[in-house]
Amino acid sequence: MKVFKKIGVLTSGGDAPGMNAAVRAVVRAALSNGVEVVGIYRGYSGLIDGDIKALDIRDVSNTINKGGTVLYSDRCPELKTPDGLAKAVETCHKFGIDGIVTIGGDGTFRGANALTKAGVPCVGIPGTIDNDITSTDNTIGFDTAMNTTLDLVDKLRDTCESHARCNVVEVMGRGAGDIALNTAIASGSTAVAIPEFDFDEEELFRKIKTSKKLGKRNFIVTVSEGMGSDYAPTLAKKIQAETGVETKFARFAHIVRGGTPTLRDRILATRMGAYAVDRLLQGKSNIVICERHDEIVARDITFALDLDALYKGVVSEGELQGYGADVVEEMKRECRERREKMAALYEIEGRLNL
Ligand code: F6P
Repeated sequence: MKVFKKIGVLTSGGDAPGMNAAVRAVVRAALSNGVEVVGIYRGYSGLIDGDIKALDIRDVSNTINKGGTVLYSDRCPELKTPDGLAKAVETCHKFGIDGIVTIGGDGTFRGANALTKAGVPCVGIPGTIDNDITSTDNTIGFDTAMNTTLDLVDKLRDTCESHARCNVVEVMGRGAGDIALNTAIASGSTAVAIPEFDFDEEELFRKIKTSKKLGKRNFIVTVSEGMGSDYAPTLAKKIQAETGVETKFARFAHIVRGGTPTLRDRILATRMGAYAVDRLLQGKSNIVICERHDEIVARDITFALDLDALYKGVVSEGELQGYGADVVEEMKRECRERREKMAALYEIEGRLNL
């Protein structure tokens, strides 16, 4: 079995609150096993350029509570090129890096997969506010982003109530409506538009008019950015025209990506970071650390990426020929479960938020 003397840790793609807690856990778990750790700055770009520093226990002090990522982040198209990949591998040889824990989203995992195949064992940890990694129930940063969004919507509600207004809010999430759907339920939004389900605008107009007649003064309509960048501002104009309720539009954008991580994100990150190091040192690589029904588990990275692609409709069942029939069934079951969970939340939102 490979003996690990030194491992690297990096954060890549969009930053997410809780990434620092994961980095801290990786550093301390490795050191407690007598393994040295280096921080790779600016994601895969820093790996290619050799932007690397040793990290000791104290280097990660006072970081568990910090948003952003102390290792900085980057999206790095160069790693996708043979030349970029070769440079990244060369850096690992130069610095004596035996394996890497990579924290980020699906792009990060594709990089980890390529590096592992090129001889550098990698383990991925899902860090993204979007919660759009199908293989895990929760990603690091999702809980914080939801809580920050909720806080902002609650504030908008105050002013909507004072002025008898509607506010359409657009929240991040890329193609996934998880942040929008959950915060819509928790904030009492009148409606939520997410890419996973058809949205009935006429029904929304009717709902607003009826509730207004019954004395309701504030209306929040939550829209996921996955509906397209023009969708939410246009909807705000339509609501005003159709219902007569003055309607404002707010785009929260990157605001919800910053800030202090919640307790849940810190704990998830700490559990995942420690588990990632354990598995890597046990000789397991090309895996993603996932949370499934409250348990931390390791799943094959290729499986996780294909599962994701199936869920997002990027590949069809027929394109998963390489897997046995039982594995494809398992993938379909997971996709179905995830869709059903969202559908149940969507139904509750529509029925109870009036
Ligand atoms: O993946 C996180 C995320 O914030 C998405 O919600 C959003 O679509 C995207 O990143 C924005 O990317 P950028 O930071 O490059 O503008």
